[in-house]
Amino acid sequence: MELINDLKWRYATKKFSNKSVSEEDLQTLIEAINLSASSIGMQTYRLFVIENQALKKQLGIGSFNSQIADSSHLFVFAAFDVIREETIENYIQLLANERGIPVTDLVDLKTKVCDFLLARNDQENFNWSSKQAYIGLGTGLIAAANLKIDAAPLEGFDPEKFDKLLGLREKNLKSVVLLAVGYRDEEMDLLASQKKVRISTQEFATRIR
Ligand SMILES: Cc1cc2nc3c(=O)[nH]c(=O)nc-3n(C[C@H](O)[C@H](O)[C@H](O)COP(=O)(O)O)c2cc1C
Repeated sequence: MELINDLKWRYATKKFSNKSVSEEDLQTLIEAINLSASSIGMQTYRLFVIENQALKKQLGIGSFNSQIADSSHLFVFAAFDVIREETIENYIQLLANERGIPVTDLVDLKTKVCDFLLARNDQENFNWSSKQAYIGLGTGLIAAANLKIDAAPLEGFDPEKFDKLLGLREKNLKSVVLLAVGYRDEEMDLLASQKKVRISTQEFATRIR
């Protein structure tokens, strides 16, 4: 299966070359991530795609991950912590518009979603939203591999610094995880030629028939 070959080809890239990802491929990556599943379908996270070299450099200062500055583009996944009734209303309205359903038919759904989400505090909402963001990260990794774009998922960064520099708190967002994308520097990246290491599928998955 082609997908398995893509997944064997990909690795968490340590050193990127100077080659840039094309606008077309960037759009495809963004669309793939936007198509990720999310709980209730509410997509309670946002994606910031940073191309600006000076900003990437500034964001990378103090992190052991040189990929932040060296990548062609840096994808920042940021999750909402504040979820208000208005957020849920906007989602219900979108659902009604896109599916051609009268909003009045969605009153029960709105009540259920409100009961579920509005009882939580901001930390609980953030934890929940962050899980959705990680699903987006997974989609981004797979989509990048399919496009033969190299990528590095990164948790090694200072979220508060990112939040400040990107003005995320003003939008009730907090940075969660990064995806640095670009093209591997085969010569400088020792990991480029290393065998992928995984436990066996037998150890990993228990089949219950
Ligand atoms: C959520 C997450 C966070 C990660 N954070 C970092 C990181 O900060 N720096 C880094 O070099 N690699 C990071 N990695 C890459 C992992 O080390 C790598 O995926 C793992 O060793 C498996 O190797 P492979 O992805 O090349 O198959 C991270 C991976 C994930 C999924």
